[in-house]
Amino acid sequence: MKKRVLFVCLGNICRSPAAEAIFKRMVKEEGLSDGFMADSAGLSGWHTGEAPDHRMVRQAGRRGYNLDHRARQFDRAKDFDTFDLIVGMDDDNIRRLRDQARNESDIQKIRKMVSFCRSHDIREVPDPYLGGADGFELVLELLEDGCRGILSELKSAQPTISME
Ligand code: 4NP
Repeated sequence: MKKRVLFVCLGNICRSPAAEAIFKRMVKEEGLSDGFMADSAGLSGWHTGEAPDHRMVRQAGRRGYNLDHRARQFDRAKDFDTFDLIVGMDDDNIRRLRDQARNESDIQKIRKMVSFCRSHDIREVPDPYLGGADGFELVLELLEDGCRGILSELKSAQPTISME
């Protein structure tokens, strides 16, 4: 069974589509594409159907990431059923995801991105929307750190395939 990871932020045009692209590339580079599925969504529907924010496209592009997602709103029933891990970017995202959880099993799937970071000790992945280029760089640093942590945690949870 593929491990399914959903990245969630407010608008689904800055942080979560970047996290999705970073995670997908890490999975591909490790030759693990058959074992993982990733997507992203926003808690608001403000930008539904839009391409990622041009500032994030540019900053992420400098690191070689191609952001081809189209924004969509988090879908409570479908997304809690589909995904094994739902990763929010900040405290507000986590609060809203918990408010939408239907049961304890849904709640168990919700984690904050920074809880997977090994090289950064910071409370949240800050919303970069109203800030400058520095904010986008910090977000990308945190997302790379967090995605490495997620992949390593999920890899160690994956049953080893026996060749016997
Ligand atoms: P994101 O950033 O949640 O990382 O996609 C934002 C994008 C748009 C808005 C806020 C945050 N907005 O207010 O429209």
